[in-house]
Amino acid sequence: MSKIREIVDTLEFHKALGIDEVIAKEPQNKLQKKELDFISPSLTLPKKVTPQSKISLKSKNELDKAARETAKSAKTLQDLKECLELFEGCSLKHTAMHTVFADGVPSSKVMVIGEAPGADEDRLGKPFVGLSGQLLDKMLAAIGLSRQKNIYISNILPWRPPGNRQPTAGETSACLPFIERHIELIRPKIILLVGGTAGKTLLNSTEGIMKLRGHFLDYETQNEGFKALAFPTFHPAYLLRSPGQKKYAWQDLLRLKHKLKELAIEI
Ligand code: URA
Repeated sequence: MSKIREIVDTLEFHKALGIDEVIAKEPQNKLQKKELDFISPSLTLPKKVTPQSKISLKSKNELDKAARETAKSAKTLQDLKECLELFEGCSLKHTAMHTVFADGVPSSKVMVIGEAPGADEDRLGKPFVGLSGQLLDKMLAAIGLSRQKNIYISNILPWRPPGNRQPTAGETSACLPFIERHIELIRPKIILLVGGTAGKTLLNSTEGIMKLRGHFLDYETQNEGFKALAFPTFHPAYLLRSPGQKKYAWQDLLRLKHKLKELAIEI
């Protein structure tokens, strides 16, 4: 095989694995340092939460319980961010550049939750800053909402799945306690769930976004029993691929605007 053919084949192989950008001059073998099993057998907890810094865990139930306890211990957004940065229950963290936590105004009455950071978000450390984020900003601006004034934005997963692949059920369930605690700390009146992953995960539903979108649904966190209205709609990345669906997204936005008025929610 010629040298050039070999290089092209290697690049194609990397692309198929989801390695689609260069993040450092020298390659790094991250496998050498850390275990990359999806559910690591250990969960690192912040020192202020427990005197032990590491707890050995055997089953997924134990992992879920420990993740819930860790998330619950966070009393502020900063605590929660630190807990996530120390959390070893989701291996996506090891392939991501940043823990993408949130953007916007923490006192907002509307919280937007997406799926997971993409390449731009991972590089910049902020949610929804790429092409789909720009469309999301325009959609929200059309009903008077913006991350500078009156909304707060986060994702189900704080780490980018390699190659922007769909998160697995294991990854979403490992991170669920953290986004639930995030909601409890923000205490929004309405949670705008963008896309099927956000809708299914938070509402614990098997219905797809086509069925869920456009409906106000009761949402309650498992931990504190904090209640809010959840409102699923299409993901802006889907609208970029299927512009014919934008009319339905617009109907959803008008419904959201109407609900804010009906409930006298000051924005
Ligand atoms: N898509 C998401 O769901 N979230 C982001 O932050 C960016 C793209």
